Amino acid sequence: MTSVTAPSNIALIKYMGKVEGTGNRPTNASLSYTMNHLVTEVSIAALPKEATEDRWRPLVKPGFGAPALSETGRAKFLNHFRFLKETWGVPGFHEIASANNFPSDCGLASSASSFAALTKAAARAFGRGESAEELSRLSRRGSGSSCRSFFSPWALWREEGAESVDDLGFGDLLHAAVVVSAGMKQVSSSEAHRRVLSSPKFAGRPERAEQRLRELMSALREKNWTEAHRVTWDEFVDMHELFETSQPAFGYRNRASKDVVDACRHIWSFKNDGPLVTMDAGPNVHLLFRPDQRELADKMVTHFQEKHVVMSSWRGLK
Ligand code: DP6
Repeated sequence: MTSVTAPSNIALIKYMGKVEGTGNRPTNASLSYTMNHLVTEVSIAALPKEATEDRWRPLVKPGFGAPALSETGRAKFLNHFRFLKETWGVPGFHEIASANNFPSDCGLASSASSFAALTKAAARAFGRGESAEELSRLSRRGSGSSCRSFFSPWALWREEGAESVDDLGFGDLLHAAVVVSAGMKQVSSSEAHRRVLSSPKFAGRPERAEQRLRELMSALREKNWTEAHRVTWDEFVDMHELFETSQPAFGYRNRASKDVVDACRHIWSFKNDGPLVTMDAGPNVHLLFRPDQRELADKMVTHFQEKHVVMSSWRGLK
């Protein structure tokens, strides 16, 4: 049996919108920070000859919880495994077990860590020698954002797969996710990718994202945190406005997300400093702090914990 882990990642420049019919090829490049503290573990074991299909089960391991995989989620996961076996000419059927080291019901269960871990585990189980870049391209076929989970701390995904970016400043950042709602999403991110194409605001979206990517990379290289914050903020707002102007419109931001975001805005206007703030296709708010902002990070986490669960890289789940 082979077991491996892969981390999740949070995009600051978002992958939102796919080129139709191309196996998760994005309409714009994206940049993410790898959350090495949030991982999925996947194990793969060969099934006896009589088996007629691959199957999935929850992995039981202390400190890990099984992801709440829907029927569609499970099919997507097993389809990706089938794709990998076909690509590599691997015969037979297997049992895949997976679990996350973060609660599956906390609204952070991203497909990124699951698909990256599955791709890595399959490569290991079948004795493959592909590079991280090659595995990233294959993983993209299963779930786009997973292709960025092969690199740390920063990953840049342009077309086929992601690559590492080494010269971005600030070192290891502190990550906190303010979990304002842990419920299942009404609209999956795969569906969001389709729907945003119908928004009038999608016109010019790839260009806006590419422009922000250049600005964010320069800001991180030049250690201009304020500019990095501005770009990151504009980017998540842009993505959520696409959702909210799609036809039919949908949205993930709720009253509590708005309150958390407003509190961050307040900190920034008051102190002229604060965390990078972003949101994924969900209501939860992600914060990234520089290592020297530890005191502020602690204060903000303590404040948000009065009302919400906060998952942080330096204090764990509270
Ligand atoms: C909002 O990678 O989940 O998190 O390729 O259809 O599996 P599929 O979509 P997915 O999309 C994630 C979108 C996002 C932004 C991002 O991670 O860049």
